[in-house]
Amino acid sequence: MFKDKVAIITGSTQGIGKRLALKLAEHGAVVVINSRSAEKVEKTVAEFTSKGYRVFGISGDVSDYAFCEDMRKQIISHYGRIDVLVCNAALAVEGSIADSSAKAIELATRTNIHGSIYPAIALMDDLTVTKGSVLFMSSIAGIVGLPGYAMYSCTKKAIFAVAESMKNEVLDRGVFIGVCLPDFTENEDSKQIMTINGELKTIEKRNGIKTVSLDRTARCIIRQLKSKRFLCFTSLRGRFLYNFYRFFPRLLLLAVKIKRKQFMK
Ligand SMILES: NC(=O)c1ccc[n+]([C@@H]2O[C@H](COP(=O)([O-])OP(=O)(O)OC[C@H]3O[C@@H](n4cnc5c(N)ncnc54)[C@H](OP(=O)(O)O)[C@@H]3O)[C@@H](O)[C@H]2O)c1
Repeated sequence: MFKDKVAIITGSTQGIGKRLALKLAEHGAVVVINSRSAEKVEKTVAEFTSKGYRVFGISGDVSDYAFCEDMRKQIISHYGRIDVLVCNAALAVEGSIADSSAKAIELATRTNIHGSIYPAIALMDDLTVTKGSVLFMSSIAGIVGLPGYAMYSCTKKAIFAVAESMKNEVLDRGVFIGVCLPDFTENEDSKQIMTINGELKTIEKRNGIKTVSLDRTARCIIRQLKSKRFLCFTSLRGRFLYNFYRFFPRLLLLAVKIKRKQFMK
């Protein structure tokens, strides 16, 4: 299904994006690697090339629309088509919204919302030609607004809404839109989180929290792209929380209220 298809995964120099790019390359796709760091893109491209995969790197910031248009031009001039776009790049964000700086709020919004919408709209005409797929990355933190992670929950809920609207807007063009809600996932050592001051700090390895492996997460997304199912969860816990909130929203909100101090630690 992915053989010779051109797939761009934003934010694919580490974590879920990189593992997904690797799996798509294993399935025969030509993968386009992206992140803001030219050095990380170069390193990832070299790694993929050494494994014999067809890969192309484009470094730049997906929250900048001019960059997204330029990225589109580069892919089209190299390969002449775009089949799959995974809007994966995002910033993890911590801290109470009441204490957050305007800088942190703007950066979270730009990266996680603009940075997902801009690539999708810049590449939409080419995806229409191939009747391709766009997959947005939300999170289980986007099911309900979590205390202590307000901007992350807010941006991930927004992405869910964008996917819901866009799926019907482009239905008649034959473009598939999906949204994935990963559970807590195994982190790379280099994973960073933004603080209330808009600064980045490296996240410590998650201890005591059950995480889903990168492999399983990438496999779930591949399955979703194959089956063209709108929604994808990477764990039973994610599916359960989503459905629990749909049917018993007050109960879930009460549970979050009771556990608020744990979230805000
Ligand atoms: N990890 C989890 O537990 C988890 C759970 C649920 C949902 N998710 C979602 O899954 C996705 C991937 O998460 P992850 O943990 O694998 O991420 P990650 O390890 O933090 O990696 C993020 C990637 O995005 C790139 N990036 C960040 N801002 C960018 C920008 N403006 N333009 C282009 N590239 C940018 C980063 O590279 P540069 O810094 O070089 O730009 C990096 O390659 C995200 O959407 C996240 O919200 C993750």
